[in-house]
Amino acid sequence: MNNYLTPSRRALKDKNIIIGICGGIAAYKTPQLVRLLKKKGADVRVALTESGSRFVSELSLATVSQAQVYRSIFPPAENTGSDFTTHITLGEWADALVIAPATANTLARLAAGFCDDMLATCFITLRPGKPVLVFPAMDGQMYISPSVQRNLATLKAQGAIIIEPESGELASGQCGTGRMPEPEAIAAYIEAALSVTHPSLLRGRSIVITAGPTREKIDDVRFISNYSSGKMGFAIAGAAAGRGANVTLIAGPVNLDTPRGVERIDVESAVQMREVAGNFFRSCDIFIGAAAVADYRPAAVIPGKLKKNNPEIQFTLVKNPDILSDFGFQKQAGQLAVGFALEQDNGPANALKKLEEKNLDLVALNFSDRKTSGFEVDTNMLTLIERGGITTELPLLSKEEAARKLLDAIENICRQT
Ligand code: PMT
Repeated sequence: MNNYLTPSRRALKDKNIIIGICGGIAAYKTPQLVRLLKKKGADVRVALTESGSRFVSELSLATVSQAQVYRSIFPPAENTGSDFTTHITLGEWADALVIAPATANTLARLAAGFCDDMLATCFITLRPGKPVLVFPAMDGQMYISPSVQRNLATLKAQGAIIIEPESGELASGQCGTGRMPEPEAIAAYIEAALSVTHPSLLRGRSIVITAGPTREKIDDVRFISNYSSGKMGFAIAGAAAGRGANVTLIAGPVNLDTPRGVERIDVESAVQMREVAGNFFRSCDIFIGAAAVADYRPAAVIPGKLKKNNPEIQFTLVKNPDILSDFGFQKQAGQLAVGFALEQDNGPANALKKLEEKNLDLVALNFSDRKTSGFEVDTNMLTLIERGGITTELPLLSKEEAARKLLDAIENICRQT
C-alpha cells in the first residue's frame, strides 16, 4: 500500500463517497465494497456506467447503498419532478470519488475530459482537493498498453491517486497484472486518503509557482532553452491544490496537463514570466520558483530566419531578470520565498549561498543526471535547506512524493512564523 498517509479507523465516518463502477468483471466485488463502506459510517452513492450495469445489477447496488443509483446525467423521462442539477450537485456533495473497477475505456474518457455519463461528470465537478482514487482493473496486456498508461499518467498529473492493480489470475485465465484489490483493501486506501486529521496550513493560502523552461528567441524560428519538462513544478502545483491552496502556475513551454484545481498561465520567455509573476508579488502568500529560467537572452531578436552564409556568428547575450530574487527582496512579513538550486558541484554550499543572495526561506537543492534526478525524469532527489542552514536530505522519490515533502517543510515553516 502507498504510504502517503496513515489511515485512521474513523476516517470514513460521516463521509460522502461516490463509487464509480465501470464494465469489468471485478465489478462483482462492488456491492460488498458499498456494504463495507456503509458499515464504516460512510454515506455512499453509486455512479454506474452503461457497461458496468452489464456486470452488476442496479437493484443490488441501490439496495446495499440504500440510495438511487446514478447512470445518465439526464433524469428518466417519466420523472419530470426530479432534480435536473444532480450532475453538478452530486460531485460537489462528495468527499471522495472512488472509481473501481476503472476500465481502459473510462480512463480514456476521463483523461479526455468527457462528461457523457454521471461518473465522468462527477470526476469534473468534484471539489478541488477532494481525493479521486482510481483502481484500474483489466487484462494484463491492456493494462500495460501505451494508451492506458498515457491516460493513467494524465489522470495522475491532474492529482488522481492511481492504485496499481494486483498480480494474479485474471478473468482470461492467464496470470498478469490487472486484478482489482479486495473490498477491504480498497476501503483501507479510501481511509488513508481521507485520514488528514488536521486541515493543511496551506488551505486557503495563495501560492504562485513557476515551472518549466523559458525560451529566449534568437530569430523567428530558433531559441535558447534547456531540458526542463515542468514535471517538478507541476507536481508541486497539484499537491498544493490538493491541500486546498489557491494555486497559480506560471508555466514555460511544456507538454503537461494542468493539475486539478490549478490556475495556469502560459508564458514563453523569462521577461514574460517576470511580468506575469510580478502581478502576484504583493498578493501571494508563498512564491515557489521551480522554473529553469534562462539566465541570459540574445540582446536583439533577428527578424525572420537567420541565414547561414557566415562561417561564424557572434551573439551578445544580456542578463535576464532574476524572478525569484526580485520576489525575495520585495516580500513582506508573512510572505515566503522558496526556490530550487540546480547544482553540479559544491551543492550544499552553493544552495545556501543562493538562499542568502535571493533572500529565500527555503531552497531545494537538486542535481541533474537526466537518469534519476533533475530535468525530464519522473523522480528527483532533493536536499531541503532552510535559513540558518537547517538541512533535510530526502531520498530519491517520485516528483509527486518529493513535492509533498517540500510542502510539508513549507507547512512547518508556516507553523513557526
Ligand atoms: O522541470 P523538470 O524537468 O521536472 O526539472 C526540474 C528542475 C530541475 C527544473 C527543478 O527541480 C529545478 O531545479 N528548478 C530550478 C532550476 C534552476 O534554474 O536553478 P538555478 O539554480 O539556476 O536557479 C535558482 C532559483 O532561481 C530557481 O528557483 C529558479 O527558478 C530561480 N531563477 C533563476 C534564474 C532567473 N532568472 N530567475 C529565477 O527565478
